[in-house]
Parts: sequence; structure tokens; C-alpha cells
Amino acid sequence: MKVQKIQIFDTTLRDGEQSPGVNLNKSEKFQIAKQLERFNIDIMEAGFPASSKGDFESVKEISNHVRGCSVTGLSRCKQSDIDVAWEALQGGAEPRIHLFLATSPIHMASKLKMTEDQVIERAVESVQYAAKFFPHIQWSAEDACRTELPFLAKIVEKVIRAGASVINIPDTVGFITPKEYGEVFRYLKTNVPNIENVILSTHCHDDLGMAVANSLAGVEHGARQVEGTINGIGERAGNASLEEFAVALHVRKDYYQCGTELVLAETKRTSDLVSKLTGMQIPANKAVVGRNAFAHESGIHQDGMLKNKQTYEIISPELVGVTADPYVLGKLSGRHAFKTHLQKLGFSINDEEMQTLFTAFKSLCDTKKEVTDDDIIALVTDNKLGK
Ligand code: KIV
Ligand code: ZN
Repeated sequence: MKVQKIQIFDTTLRDGEQSPGVNLNKSEKFQIAKQLERFNIDIMEAGFPASSKGDFESVKEISNHVRGCSVTGLSRCKQSDIDVAWEALQGGAEPRIHLFLATSPIHMASKLKMTEDQVIERAVESVQYAAKFFPHIQWSAEDACRTELPFLAKIVEKVIRAGASVINIPDTVGFITPKEYGEVFRYLKTNVPNIENVILSTHCHDDLGMAVANSLAGVEHGARQVEGTINGIGERAGNASLEEFAVALHVRKDYYQCGTELVLAETKRTSDLVSKLTGMQIPANKAVVGRNAFAHESGIHQDGMLKNKQTYEIISPELVGVTADPYVLGKLSGRHAFKTHLQKLGFSINDEEMQTLFTAFKSLCDTKKEVTDDDIIALVTDNKLGK
């Protein structure tokens, strides 16, 4: 089976930082950037250099010190933004600019107050201007998923001709469904000349909870770059969660026949660092990195897992760097899991003692949601059992 590479474009430090209430300082951004480098992402969007002096300095520091991936910065289609971006990014290993301009009727009329022709002209001029400095240019059609497809195809054709090498199709407001998103890529591939010479990219928001599914649909229809953030943080309901996307691709390689080059064993560490520095807690049931993502509480599940892990586990915790014990002891736990846990804690219990201890354990479970190792050690010692 030939597996095609999907480039991972991480925008934790730009779109992710747009999460309400998050404000990372320069040193925090740098720590995250170094961890993203260890995670082996392909492109890091370090910020929006023209947005503030602080962001400019962070982007510059990151691009001067990160060598394991390409560093980029966001820029409006404005010469002054492009100049500032070049100042911040020119020291990077593979400097890249990320230009964007809105293309949907509502954004063009209400926000930009520009006609279709004016938007095309501005996009083309900006790409041509950026090409004087940058070896790599990405162009994004903001609100692409609410843009009329013939206009989207027209502007994409023009910016490719002007020099863009990556075309990003953002679902800016998280509105599209997977089937429709796939259709957008299919339409562009059929209607834009020379589109095979550029990389198509997804950028999905999670307002309707479909960001990862939409990103996967984009990949099925030819996208070879996927954008997102660690833990899915970002504006409103956030962006596509990169760890969920990458693990889905890994686990279902048979279906997608695509893969990333992320060091998946760094997933948990990356997620924990982003959560700690942004102050955004990870829900316990979040896929891949949540506290409960690999935990099994019911007796039937624990028994199945102890007999054969594949009964209830499709992702091995070690794959993503999770080392915690998967068996949560609680009122639904069975004798088998309880005994295995006692052995792990170093106790040797005979059958008669087990009877007494299991009854005491069940009574304790009626008073506590989760029973800890200390509770179990206390049970054994209080009952003067085991060796
Ligand atoms: O969601 C969006 O449209 C963006 C663009 C700036 C790429 O973040
Ligand atoms: Zn976005």
C-alpha cells in the first residue's frame, strides 16, 4: 500500500491564540514552538507579525531559532503587512508567508466593501508583491466554504498564476459538512487549470463539531496539507484538533492511504504543555488526549481488556505517549480487574482473602466515585490481609 504524506500546518500560536482568554507571552510561545518542532510538524504558523509588536517579536524569535520545520506568519493582502512579515520571517529555514483575503459575498460586501474584481486584483497584486521576498507563498480564501464555487475557482486560478504554491480553503465559520467540503475540493480540481502544481490545504473550524471530519474529507478529495491546532483550541469553538486528525489517519491508514510524519509519541506531552500555558483545560472525554481517553471502568470492558486489549482499544496509549493505568477502579469494576490491580500494587492475596477484600472494595465504591491506590492499600492493611 502506498501511503501519501499529509503536511501538518500547525496554527496553535496564531489561530489557537485567538481563543478567547488566551494570551501567550514571548517565552511561552517559544516553549510551545520548540515542542511543536519535537512533534515534527511541517509548518508552524508562529503568529501574525503586523498585528502587534509582541507578535512580531515572537515570530522573529521563533523563525530565527526553529530549524526543524518551515515557519510562517499570517498577513493581510497589504504591502505594509507583507513588509513586516518579511522582516519577522526572513531569518527562517524556509520562510513562508500566509496571505488571506475573504471571498464570500457576505464578507466582500459587508466587511471589505469590495467587488469581486477588486478582490481578485488585490489578491493577485499581493501574491506578486510577496513573491519578491518569499520562496513559499500560501494564499487563503477566507470564508471559502460560503463562497460561490465559480468565483472561488476563478480567484484560485489567478493567485496560482501570480505565484502561490499552497491554496488553503478555510471553513472559517465551521459551517460546511464533510460531503460538501469534499465537493469543494473536487470542483476546484476539475475547474482550475494547473491546480495539480500546487498543494491544496484544509483549514476547518469546529462550530458544528465537524472540523476533524471535514479535514479528513478534504484529504479524501486531494488535500495534502491540513491545518489545525493542538487540543483544537482557537476562535469560538476552535479549530480542527491536530492530534485527533493525525491519530485518525494513523489508525485508519487502510482507508485513507495517507499519513503524517508527526512523532506521535510526543502527542500527550505537546497537548499537556499547550493546555498548561494557555490555561485551557482538556475535557476528560476528549479523544486521544483526554484523561479518560484510554480508561476503562465497567467490569465487562475491564475483563475484555485483560483477556485481549483489542476488544475495547483501537489506539494504544503508548502510541501517543500516555502511560497512565487504563483501569479505573469504581463500582462497575469486576473481580478480575481488582485482583490484577492488587498484584500490580505488589500484594499476594489468596482466594479466601479476595472474597473479603472484594466485598469491602464494593462497599467502598458505593461511597466514592473513584477508588485510588491509597484507598486499596488502606483496605488491605486495615483488614490485615495479603502479603
Ligand atoms: O479561519 C480562517 O479563515 C483563518 C484564515 C485567516 C486562514 O484563520
Ligand atoms: Zn481560522
